[in-house]
Amino acid sequence: MSDKTFVSELERYTKYANDVIHRYLPRETGTQKHLSEAMNYSMNAGGKRLRPILMYLSYRMLGGEGKEIEPFMASIEMIHTHSLIHDDLPALDNDMYRRGKKSTHAVFGESAAILAGDALLNCAYETMARSFRMGADPLLTGRAIGILAEKTGVHGMLGGQAVDVEMDGKPLTTEQLEFIYEYKTGALMEGSLMAGACLAGASDEQMEALEKIGSEIGIAFQIRDDILDVAGTQEVLGKPVGSDEKNNKTTYVTLHGLKKAGEDAQALTQRAVRRLDELPGEKGFLRTLLQSLADRKY
Ligand code: FPP
Ligand code: MG
Repeated sequence: MSDKTFVSELERYTKYANDVIHRYLPRETGTQKHLSEAMNYSMNAGGKRLRPILMYLSYRMLGGEGKEIEPFMASIEMIHTHSLIHDDLPALDNDMYRRGKKSTHAVFGESAAILAGDALLNCAYETMARSFRMGADPLLTGRAIGILAEKTGVHGMLGGQAVDVEMDGKPLTTEQLEFIYEYKTGALMEGSLMAGACLAGASDEQMEALEKIGSEIGIAFQIRDDILDVAGTQEVLGKPVGSDEKNNKTTYVTLHGLKKAGEDAQALTQRAVRRLDELPGEKGFLRTLLQSLADRKY
């Protein structure tokens, strides 16, 4: 796929994901409207929408054609955004910028940011449950909700984040670091690909392959995050660089150096792409998207 085609296709998918997400955001009305404003602030701050796009592409690749994917696309972005709002809080990374704007606690205050994160996480499950009313297979819908709940929780993103926080400022072994990366970052990519496939009626074997792909690109994505924290700029990244050093964090770059970090991110991505090529269905754009993540600039 040419660079030009990739860029215009990515724009098209991002616009579609944005349209879907906007339909499911809470209305900024009622006595509690300050809460919905805080929830929507970060949801509207210009994220790449990578997880909903991955979910949609996996659904289409495996033959999904319905609309029931849409509440799930909005939900995975709500889960992801909740994690960013909480990750930036003073008790965690204490970062004042995210997605090119002030972080939620910097604008709305710490207590409102905690509640906005909680409410977005809850809103995600409320939104997923709406797909039961859209004529989708209830067994597949229930299973997809279960996948996302697991990949978000103690056996997924939150488990990884908990170990990340617990080990803050302490030296880590490669195994501990890879556990954190697979769980805190990989799990949501795994969940996105798997839930999309599940709703399309994929086999257990196909779901297992997508779980491995999600894990590989998730770890590569987090390694790239570490590289950008050292070699990127706030202007392009939309958040401060040097956050890991400020927080005394052991990262893939501090353990292995910039060169090996780049090589390993590429190798993981190639492994994921080979695995993808064994699955059925149209995957030209998804393949290029996965490849593009290993050298993303933001
Ligand atoms: C950036 O995604 C996000 C990551 C690299 C994941 C980091 C993991 C956490 C923050 C887990 C935190 C969990 C909790 C519960 C606090 P992106 O580059 O896709 O961001 P974008 O959506 O802004 O483009
Ligand atoms: Mg963090």
